[in-house]
Amino acid sequence: MAGRAVVRGVGHYLPEQIVPNAAFEKTLDTTDEWIRTRSGIERRHFAAKDETTSDLATRAAEAALADAGMTADQLDAIVLATSTADLTFPSAATMVQARLGMTNGYAFDVQAVCAGFVYALSNANALIVSGQAKRVLVIGAETFSRIMDWTDRSTCVLFGDGAGALVLEYEEAAGTPQDRGILSVDLNSDGRYKDLLYVDGGVSTQTTGHLRMQGNQVFRHAVEKLAQTAETALGKAGLSSADVDWIVPHQANIRIIQGTAKKMGLPMDKVVVTVQDHGNTSAASIPLALSVGKARGQIKTGDLVVTEAIGGGLAWGAVVLRW
Ligand code: ACO
Repeated sequence: MAGRAVVRGVGHYLPEQIVPNAAFEKTLDTTDEWIRTRSGIERRHFAAKDETTSDLATRAAEAALADAGMTADQLDAIVLATSTADLTFPSAATMVQARLGMTNGYAFDVQAVCAGFVYALSNANALIVSGQAKRVLVIGAETFSRIMDWTDRSTCVLFGDGAGALVLEYEEAAGTPQDRGILSVDLNSDGRYKDLLYVDGGVSTQTTGHLRMQGNQVFRHAVEKLAQTAETALGKAGLSSADVDWIVPHQANIRIIQGTAKKMGLPMDKVVVTVQDHGNTSAASIPLALSVGKARGQIKTGDLVVTEAIGGGLAWGAVVLRW
């Protein structure tokens, strides 16, 4: 026998304002054609001026709880992945906790940039299988529009805002790869690559800063490291690429997504793709894609799902779960 963290509900929230690629043609030396062909992005959502990361996160959390048929007082913990929290402290997670009316349990943020949701899932899984929590709400939420340099065409056209959430619950299981729930995790980071992708400001430097990226270098690392971490995680679960029903990748660039699938020997009809509609929403992109993938009728109960992501750090990883 083994305990597993099983998905009970999923939900997402996207801010109302949709910005098509063409909007950038007015202020930057760029085109819809360039953005579309180099990244696969067609549009993205931007939060309203008075809308913060915890606002988006709360809406996604409410949707996931409704999908699970649960109320916030049934939760033991909230783990929220973000690099764009409302305030330096308290955590965005505790703000969501208050907004949901949850007065017991505990809530905290996880910061691993675009790999944040994979890290958050890993943390939530560890809490559940070690008996420290029975039900955990895992959220990815970001307002990357707040850290863009609007004069830098090589970054500001790529990112968007949004939030997604999952409710995980402990379930007794046989301890085999056929179990439902999280089957394995693989996490990695290598701080030597800081300069490839970072924000040039923060609390300790007394500035907010803007996102800086050497896109083609990140691209090179991404395909190789994502395929490797996904295959390592599958191996840890006693499975291989042939067992996969859905890859749900971090949605940064369609060419990275295609390259990773190809390296794993998987066709694109086994990949959930939302990058065209959301852009890169960092830690929110995987739970957004899980929620959209379920709503489209792609992801069904019993399907083997692999999520994988890479971002600033570099930090990267994968989670294998049976839906
Ligand atoms: N419009 C028009 N031209 C542009 C634009 C733009 N918006 N942005 C860059 N260019 C130009 C560059 O200036 C360059 O011109 P040059 O050849 O005259 O110097 C040319 O396009 C090619 O630039 P590259 O950076 O080599 O283009 P590339 O094909 O690598 O595509 C991109 C750029 C889309 C950023 C790609 O490298 C990429 O997606 N990288 C990965 C980024 C990523 O996934 N980051 C996120 C992962 S981590 C996270 O999610 C935070």
